[in-house]
Amino acid sequence: ARVLLLQGPNLNLLGKREPQIYGTTTLDEIHAQLIKQAEELGHQLDCFQSNAEHLLIERIHQTLDDGTRFILINPAAYTHTSVALRDALAGVALPFIEIHLSNVHAREAFRGHSFFSDLAQGVICGLGTQGYQLALLAAHQHLEAAGS
Ligand code: DQA
Repeated sequence: ARVLLLQGPNLNLLGKREPQIYGTTTLDEIHAQLIKQAEELGHQLDCFQSNAEHLLIERIHQTLDDGTRFILINPAAYTHTSVALRDALAGVALPFIEIHLSNVHAREAFRGHSFFSDLAQGVICGLGTQGYQLALLAAHQHLEAAGS
């Protein structure tokens, strides 16, 4: 099935950005590994990163027409701010998993609130890049159970 991975603002800087928090793996490296993992599981993974809220929203809207069955999203800083992105996900009504590289609950208090978690099928945080792999596996099991 078709699966969409959305990456929010500043995640294009992974590898260089606060490596003590976010690690040294680049976004391209994460995406290459996940696209391969998705293929092995029989899925097609589309990866999209943007620093612009409206582009992420418009990419979510596209799923109404492009056959996407599941969304994986690291909303990055928009996690804590974006009612608009939350509404876009609610609007397309696709199941999604929220992922954070860092343990947002062990950091500044403002990172403890997410506009997404109550709508998400599940939330993974604090496991670094492995979080994406585990989320993809969970999406796979969900899609298998749903017969796709
Ligand atoms: C993040 C956590 C957010 O609080 C932060 O704004 C990010 C990345 C993470 O993956 O740990 O940009 O979503």
